[in-house]
Amino acid sequence: MNYRHAFHAGNHADLLKHALFDAALGQLTQKAKPLVVVDAFAGSGLYDLRLDERADRTGEWRGGVARLWEHRIDELAGPLGPFLQRLQSWNPIDAEFRWYPGSPLLALAGMRRDDKLLAVEKHPEEHERLAQRLAEDPRGRVYQEDGWTALTSFLPPTPRRGIVLIDPPFEVPNEFERLTKALASGLRRWATGVFALWYPIKAGFDLGAWEASLTNAVGEAPLLNMALNVAPSGEAGLVGSGLAVANPPFGFDQDAAAIGAHLETLLAQPGAAGFRLARLRERL
Ligand SMILES: C[S@@+](CC[C@H](N)C(=O)[O-])C[C@H]1O[C@@H](n2cnc3c(N)ncnc32)[C@H](O)[C@@H]1O
Repeated sequence: MNYRHAFHAGNHADLLKHALFDAALGQLTQKAKPLVVVDAFAGSGLYDLRLDERADRTGEWRGGVARLWEHRIDELAGPLGPFLQRLQSWNPIDAEFRWYPGSPLLALAGMRRDDKLLAVEKHPEEHERLAQRLAEDPRGRVYQEDGWTALTSFLPPTPRRGIVLIDPPFEVPNEFERLTKALASGLRRWATGVFALWYPIKAGFDLGAWEASLTNAVGEAPLLNMALNVAPSGEAGLVGSGLAVANPPFGFDQDAAAIGAHLETLLAQPGAAGFRLARLRERL
């Protein structure tokens, strides 16, 4: 386990994942009933982009959240507004951007009093930090376990309403296959759960084949796939990322299309494919 999210926090891929995750949670909380968020690869929860030298070493956040922050006054009134408001709760609007929240803190910020968060993080130090950050909030539970195993043992949760976020570090070659297997078995255990799967896009990525295996994994469940390419497809490293969402909440696809279009305008370089949303399986 060499992966540390501090090197990548606030990059373009985090922005896509987190803005869409926040929008999905926003739609789910429109209904009065309580819900559960399962964060299977939770990370440490909050990242200091100014003083943690790992963020500076890659500088990835400068091509991500720094650009959004630069345009925050214009973007606040648009589809990225709700996500920007979340970021503002850690960063005053008139200050330089410093604190980037990870998925468990974003989840808590979007949840209501009776909602629950089950956050799983295997790495001892990351787990310890997250446990400290969530210690004061009775809605959050942190587990130092294997996220893949938790996707079996924690599902279906009580209450049976909510969302699962699956964003492993992609350190091993079969991670894409593991994702689709986890999606298929997760849906067998919890057919009505919302499943959000994040994945990286690098040179040679076959979007058609990936979408075919996602579609195959979900059976009859509705499925959306969102991909944002910010660099030309032949470049080295992470040229983009995607989020596939099974059982998307009602209204989420429109939010996602608008968020993706704005992120493309802010983040995509000339020659990049930009944002694309595919409705791979429609609601019956
Ligand atoms: C991409 S990062 C998570 C980012 C976080 N979900 C967010 O959006 O802010 C992946 C995390 O998974 C953790 N991890 C790696 N292998 C794991 C495993 N088998 N089970 C649970 N966590 C794992 C890593 O330590 C890392 O913190």
